[in-house]
Amino acid sequence: MSTKNFDVVVIGGGPGGYIAAIRAAQLGFNTACIDEWKNDKGGPAPGGTCTNVGCIPSKALLQSSEHFEQAAHHFGDHGITLSDLKMDVAKMVGRKDSVVKQNNDGILYLFKKNKVSFFHGRGSFVAAKDGGYEIAVAGAATETLQAKHVVIATGSNARQLPGAEFDEALILSNDGALRIPAVPKKLGVIGSGVIGLEMGSVWRRLGAEVTILEAMPAFLGAADESVAKEAAKVFKKQGLDIQLGVKIAEVKKGKDSVSVRYADAKGAEQTVEFDKLIVSIGRVPNTIGLNAEAVGLKLDERGAIVVDGDCKTSLPNVWAVGDVVRGPMLAHKAEEEGVAVAERIAGQHGHVNFNTIPWVIYTSPEIAWVGKTEQQLKAEGVAYKAGQFPFLANGRARALGDTTGFVKFLADAKTDEILGVHIIGPFASELISEAVVAMEFKASAEDIARICHAHPSLSEATKEAALAVDKRTLNF
Ligand code: FAD
Ligand code: NAI
Repeated sequence: MSTKNFDVVVIGGGPGGYIAAIRAAQLGFNTACIDEWKNDKGGPAPGGTCTNVGCIPSKALLQSSEHFEQAAHHFGDHGITLSDLKMDVAKMVGRKDSVVKQNNDGILYLFKKNKVSFFHGRGSFVAAKDGGYEIAVAGAATETLQAKHVVIATGSNARQLPGAEFDEALILSNDGALRIPAVPKKLGVIGSGVIGLEMGSVWRRLGAEVTILEAMPAFLGAADESVAKEAAKVFKKQGLDIQLGVKIAEVKKGKDSVSVRYADAKGAEQTVEFDKLIVSIGRVPNTIGLNAEAVGLKLDERGAIVVDGDCKTSLPNVWAVGDVVRGPMLAHKAEEEGVAVAERIAGQHGHVNFNTIPWVIYTSPEIAWVGKTEQQLKAEGVAYKAGQFPFLANGRARALGDTTGFVKFLADAKTDEILGVHIIGPFASELISEAVVAMEFKASAEDIARICHAHPSLSEATKEAALAVDKRTLNF
């Protein structure tokens, strides 16, 4: 069997890996990408967690369920009446699957277009050899690749709760949560993080009674406190039962149900029976099958690959990006690291700015932020000014019929430099980009306040929040 030689071999074809491979090929390297994800026919399904069981399918279901919610509860406000409204869950899940497939196919097309050699199978280190690395691909056939540079982008897996192993029928990870065949009457969710809120929202909109059990006493601790407070209020009104400060004691599977015994925030013991239980308590870095020991690759105590600020691992010419290394587990963070690493291999100065990585939670209202929260600035002793503008005072939001939430700016008290922007409200996921650009260019709040924003648009709320920093809003 002959060995195939490459300048760069990327292991993992999620957003970190496939983007690294494309950028490396663009820079003139002979590049391969190995990914083992299989579609339901056993064929390749590149795109990783993000495309197959993460960002893309969750957003497809969020969209379908939001349409249903709008039709069921809000179309009447526009004078539209519907009778006999039904949800065909199988069709919704089928549509989600076809959106996923379009993305899988899109990545295969991009590999061809950029001349990236794709290998479908599990990549593992064999040995350091000839100044590079020998890598075996175990797929339909076994192949051997020789790489000068290796980029590891093997992603992450859902964290299991001890005693509540995923069976994807009653106890669900993100995978099972995205393909529940019928709306459960009672859905339990452990963990009120991003997945818990997004998936809880999907199934609540479709009629499930959703209870979210969260260990932390504070809701959405990573978000700005004022946003978290507003979100808690809105989600409660929507019918999400979010219980904070709980301690899970036992998860027990019955024939068709799961019971969860826990101590509530007051220490009282409770037992609840659910038809399905989603466990979304974070994710763990994945190096299963990589055979990292063969080459002495260093992992930390969490199982993440140890890297420096440039994504260099403990081994020469071996890099790692995305969920398998430190930092937020976000697709766009993985992509940025993938691009930066390919550019560093080419001797360029790839750069990732961790201060301007946006966070988005695709609930309704959407939640998005970039930079520091007010509580972080207080803890760091930074003198700041805050400005806030409610969507209730925005003409476009009123026309949309979606006036929940606000835009909030935090700016340096002396220099007016924007330190953080926090949005809860319609299309927050899109609005946050302006704040990211502004922060990348070290803009002041006044810069945004002086820029012409289209009328009527939601982005005017961003301009007004920037004006509010100087206490001179025009429409509130
Ligand atoms: P992954 O996407 O996990 O890709 C790793 C790939 O490597 C996989 O295809 C895996 O099969 C393959 N692989 C692993 N080991 C090997 C091996 N030895 N050989 C060959 N192949 C291997 N992030 C966002 O930014 N926005 C969102 O809206 C969002 N929504 C999410 C929703 C859910 C339900 C979940 C679970 C996650 C979501 N995320 C979101 C997080 C996002 O999916 C991850 O941050 C992102 O996928 C990480 O990319 P990655 O390339 O590091 O790893
Ligand atoms: P998460 O880290 O967002 O939330 C986990 C939650 O579970 C936390 O609130 C934590 O306090 C709680 N928890 C932990 N152990 C617990 C226990 N034993 N009992 C009760 N609660 C417990 O993790 P999640 O939701 O699993 O998502 C994983 C990652 O995927 C996210 O961190 C995020 O990076 C990514 N993601 C991003 C999305 C987006 O960008 N829109 C959407 C979904 C996921």
